[in-house]
Amino acid sequence: MRKTFNFSAGPAVLPEVVLQAAADEMMNYKGSDMSVMEISHRSALFQSIIDETEADLREVMNIPDDYEVLFLQGGTSLQFSMIPMNFMRNRKADYILTGYWAKKAYNEAKQYGQINIAASSEDKNYSYIPDCSDLDISRESDYVYMCENNTIYGTKFKDCPNSKGKILVNDISSCFLSEPMNVSDYDMLFGGVQKNLAPAGLVIAIIRKPLISETVMQGTPTMMRYKTHSDKKSLYNTPPTYNIYIVGKVIKWIKSLGGLKKMKELNERKASILYDYLDNSTMFHGVAEKESRSLMNVTFRTESEELDAAFVKAATENNIISIKGHRAVGGMRASIYNAMPIEGVRYLVDFMREFEQSGGNYGK
Ligand SMILES: Cc1ncc(COP(=O)(O)O)c(C=O)c1O
Repeated sequence: MRKTFNFSAGPAVLPEVVLQAAADEMMNYKGSDMSVMEISHRSALFQSIIDETEADLREVMNIPDDYEVLFLQGGTSLQFSMIPMNFMRNRKADYILTGYWAKKAYNEAKQYGQINIAASSEDKNYSYIPDCSDLDISRESDYVYMCENNTIYGTKFKDCPNSKGKILVNDISSCFLSEPMNVSDYDMLFGGVQKNLAPAGLVIAIIRKPLISETVMQGTPTMMRYKTHSDKKSLYNTPPTYNIYIVGKVIKWIKSLGGLKKMKELNERKASILYDYLDNSTMFHGVAEKESRSLMNVTFRTESEELDAAFVKAATENNIISIKGHRAVGGMRASIYNAMPIEGVRYLVDFMREFEQSGGNYGK
């Protein structure tokens, strides 16, 4: 058992059993006398790792056969360019702005075409998810873009936006495998693995097959074409082999707990402990509007920046790690991804209660 509880937004806590299993296999993977890190990506041993990881991902997410699963590099941020370069035919797209990462994707896309803001919650510092049931989508739009869980603001879409028949692209980085989702409601799902799945350095993209085409924007580098990676089954060049191996282990851990339905149940239980406390506290307040709250990233603050800073300092001294909020929001943020045990959330809430009872003078 670890003594600290790590509430980092990513890279983030991974299941202890997965880390232990990886440690046990570190020097000798399946009798090969090699670490997974040392195995050729062209070997049969690695091929079975990537095949099994993809098969398990397809199983837990219930991914239909007409979707490709790609293991990519360049972080989630490279997708902000790859998406327009691969999908823009009319040089038009619609973006839903619900936070820092959606805005970054929007700013990147603006380099390639005319981008319409279909909906936005920027007016209230992204503290809510706007109504997306009747979006004002441009007629020639190539796709609609959204970010399902807004890591920095602690908000999440509860309903799939109505993209009115347009291609719907969804950044699921910070809610990846946190609950069941209907993959076919979307045309592309993508996310960095550094929150819920593995160490940083790998992005998984799930794309409806007919969208993967030779026809891309002129000048698109070979490495930035989805077709390159789908033709070579994610082995066009050397993929982040160790990350793929850890993703495989994390998915097996999710399966062992009972799959995504169970994961959602556990995540709801954890989040409600924290939100219930926030709703009854006189010192701490939730930042995101109630109907838009995320199960993964819980944002909160006190009445003053000084008290926030005192809380972060006292919490850190008491083994509560990375609880400071992002500078765009201030206050605190507890990222309670799949691998955060319920004991971690209880420990945090107990500490918040003690801090509140001390009137902010904890330990003084
Ligand atoms: C929702 C979301 N999208 C994109 C990113 C950017 O990811 P990367 O650093 O892998 O480019 C992040 C990072 O935290 C994120 O939370």
